[in-house]
Amino acid sequence: MIEEKRKIFFGRSKSRALSKSKKFFYLNHKNDFLVNFEQIKLVKDKNFILEIGFGLGENLLFQATKHPENYFIGIDPFINGVANVVQKAKELNLNNISILDIPVQKVLDNFSDNLFSKVFVLFPDPWMKNKQKKRRLLNHFFLEKILKKMRTKSTLIFATDDQDYFNFVMKEVSLLRKKIDTFKYSLGNKHPIADTKYSNKANKLKKDIYFLNLDK
Ligand SMILES: C[S@@+](CC[C@H](N)C(=O)[O-])C[C@H]1O[C@@H](n2cnc3c(N)ncnc32)[C@H](O)[C@@H]1O
Repeated sequence: MIEEKRKIFFGRSKSRALSKSKKFFYLNHKNDFLVNFEQIKLVKDKNFILEIGFGLGENLLFQATKHPENYFIGIDPFINGVANVVQKAKELNLNNISILDIPVQKVLDNFSDNLFSKVFVLFPDPWMKNKQKKRRLLNHFFLEKILKKMRTKSTLIFATDDQDYFNFVMKEVSLLRKKIDTFKYSLGNKHPIADTKYSNKANKLKKDIYFLNLDK
């Protein structure tokens, strides 16, 4: 209960204003993709894939195009990214994406357990300053919650270019392994993902990218 009242989203929900044409397109088509939790049809015979913090949506759109047989749920309150996904998904004629434009902490508990067959968390905000580190999304509490929502033989894919965040997550994973042993982990880039704004930034700066795969 106390956790619910704490501030949970620290990023920007908007960057620059949408251009007139983008805004017009977005307002006309957002209802095709933007949903409330209650509107998502969680039918049992589908594979549900979750992407948390999809940013501009490069990976979400790539995965949904590559796997029309799967259903994709993207969660991110960043409105410019949401508008981008709405426009591109419409242009690509995709009908296998739903977007929730709220912080993941607000909705995760609503999903049934053992649901997702893949979860992407790509380049989440690293919150590098000591004072800000408690804002990091992937701590052992969150990992435990998300693992509950993943089905057997599923994977969570985490990528970051921030070594300190990566080491932090590895420590949180070790902590969690002491409590539950229903998952394994491995390192390295094993699952195809799209280039994203933040992976491109890292590559441009010649930074290493660290991958962690949690297999349930
Ligand atoms: C650094 S960006 C990375 C975006 C994208 N994944 C990429 O690789 O380019 C982090 C993203 O996570 C989103 N985000 C931050 N906190 C979040 C939360 N609590 N729930 C969902 N998304 C969140 C931000 O809005 C932002 O779009």
